[in-house]
Amino acid sequence: MDSNTAELGEESVSDQVVTNQDIDRFQFQGKQELLEVTSLETLEQWRLQHLGRSSVLTTALRGLGKLPSDQRRSIGAAGNIARKSLEVAYESRLSELKTMNSKAKSQGTIDVTMPGRLPILGRLHPTIQIVREITGAFSSMGFQVVEGPEVESDKYNFESLNIPQDHPARDMWDTLWIDQQDEKGLFSTLLRTHTSPMQARIMESTEPPIRVLVPGKCYRYEATDPTHEWHFYQIEGLAVDQGITFSHLKGTLYEFARRIFGRDRKIRFRCDYFPFVEPGVDVSVDCFKCDGTGCRVCAETGWIEIMGAGMVHPQVLERAGYDSRKYTGFAFGMGPERIAMLKYGIDDIRHFYTNDLRFLTQF
Ligand code: FA5
Repeated sequence: MDSNTAELGEESVSDQVVTNQDIDRFQFQGKQELLEVTSLETLEQWRLQHLGRSSVLTTALRGLGKLPSDQRRSIGAAGNIARKSLEVAYESRLSELKTMNSKAKSQGTIDVTMPGRLPILGRLHPTIQIVREITGAFSSMGFQVVEGPEVESDKYNFESLNIPQDHPARDMWDTLWIDQQDEKGLFSTLLRTHTSPMQARIMESTEPPIRVLVPGKCYRYEATDPTHEWHFYQIEGLAVDQGITFSHLKGTLYEFARRIFGRDRKIRFRCDYFPFVEPGVDVSVDCFKCDGTGCRVCAETGWIEIMGAGMVHPQVLERAGYDSRKYTGFAFGMGPERIAMLKYGIDDIRHFYTNDLRFLTQF
């Protein structure tokens, strides 16, 4: 502390007649010294020296009684203002030093016992999860997984599957065409409407026996509803060998359904028409929502169709270069989102592609 302050100790001040200038000086010196205070300990010393019972200011004010009453009042008032001002300066410095101390503490130490912050973990999309589950079930039955192009030619998407130009069966697949004409002025490139074009591509490049599974995205120019999206996944299955019969198809699909849905869900095979199989069927599972009594999800039918299937049409085999008298095969194409809906009780296929984390993080 300043040695000048010591000169104004209790003895000297109380014995002297205190003036307004003295009060100003006490206040000025107090604030000057406060600037040099850098710790809570020295701040306490400062408080005792400038605001304590033995401080120069308190002692000087104690001697006011010796003054005439008019001076006593004005010097007393000035003394109180000076004291208040020093108290405010003290409080402000005190809080500054406390803040500095706590910051230093938090920067300087690491509490190794505190639990860490969990990173946000990404996860697979529910469609991919079910695709992997289904491909896993078929892999264990000897099927190999292959993939094909999403932008397809008319030839593979339709022609090689017994669906020639202008054939009414084309109406079964509302097609999104790529705005690009071939040399004949025809639109011949499209977003594949199903994964079946891969049947022809695989057979063209492989000799039997074949057992493949083709997962992939498909696109249709379709209005959406609880079971229809305009873009969705399909998983195509194809088995070709000597002696393959319809009972192999049924046995394979029953085994698949048992693994994915358990033994309790009912499975229904019904005749259906697809130009590239003969005979053809659609396969449905009883509705998870109403247990088969009929509701909005199953369009009041009690069943949700999960795939089309059948025996590969002899013309499709021949077109790919196989001898249809020697080889037979079965094929199926299923919608994995619909299978996930049945398995997890999801009531609207559109949840899959709205990117709502409240939905996605449930899987
Ligand atoms: C076909 O696409 C045929 N290629 C299936 C096939 C393959 C038949 C091999 C015979 C042999 P379909 O249009 O019915 O068939 O579709 C097959 C499955 O895809 C449906 O059962 C359904 O699960 C799913 N699917 C079809 N359209 C949609 C859609 N708009 N939204 C969601 N899933 C769909």
